[in-house]
Amino acid sequence: MIRRVLIGAALLAATTAAFAVGPGDPKPAEDVDGKYFDADGVPTFNIAEDGTVDWYTYSGFRRYHAECHVCHGPDGMGSSYAPALAESVANIDYYTFYEVVVNGKQAVGTGQANQVMPAFGTNPNVMCYLDDIYVYLRARAQGGLPRGRPAKKEAKPDGFVEAENACMGG
Ligand code: HEC
Repeated sequence: MIRRVLIGAALLAATTAAFAVGPGDPKPAEDVDGKYFDADGVPTFNIAEDGTVDWYTYSGFRRYHAECHVCHGPDGMGSSYAPALAESVANIDYYTFYEVVVNGKQAVGTGQANQVMPAFGTNPNVMCYLDDIYVYLRARAQGGLPRGRPAKKEAKPDGFVEAENACMGG
């Protein structure tokens, strides 16, 4: 009996630890044609001292408000229906974020089974811009990016246009 309780506690600790793994240090370590990556090779934002954001953060702002904000609220602030992604992204890592968006998620055993995160894995309007959306939310979560449309942005990189055309089949 005691043993079972201990195992339960160990499992709980392991689960908690897994969830505590956030996105890590957002500081850009690499700039690949205007797309920034942290030391772990994960996409990140770059905000200059005068508030100019990288193109991907700006693009993500637009894509988030086209595809996600109807449920998750403006500026990643959350709604009565879906969680505040500006906070979620501080607590989950990039790969978990991708997994949820690709496959969707349904609250189990919370009495909120009607609140469903749809699977977007086959939606090019989301998948072709998911790094952008991630980077935008990461900037909200970790970079102090204020609410609203970023006033100043870096120029659209050539690499962005090429990747967009390839992904959208244009
Ligand atoms: C139709 C409404 C709806 C839309 C549109 C939607 N979501 Fe969700 N999303 C939800 C709900 C509801 C949950 C909570 C599900 C749960 O906890 O079981 C959720 C959960 C999530 C989570 C997990 C958050 C956490 O704290 O665990 C992520 C990440 C996420 N959504 C990203 C997105 C992104 C990115 C978009 C836009 C591409 C998007 N969602 C569009 C309803 C939506």
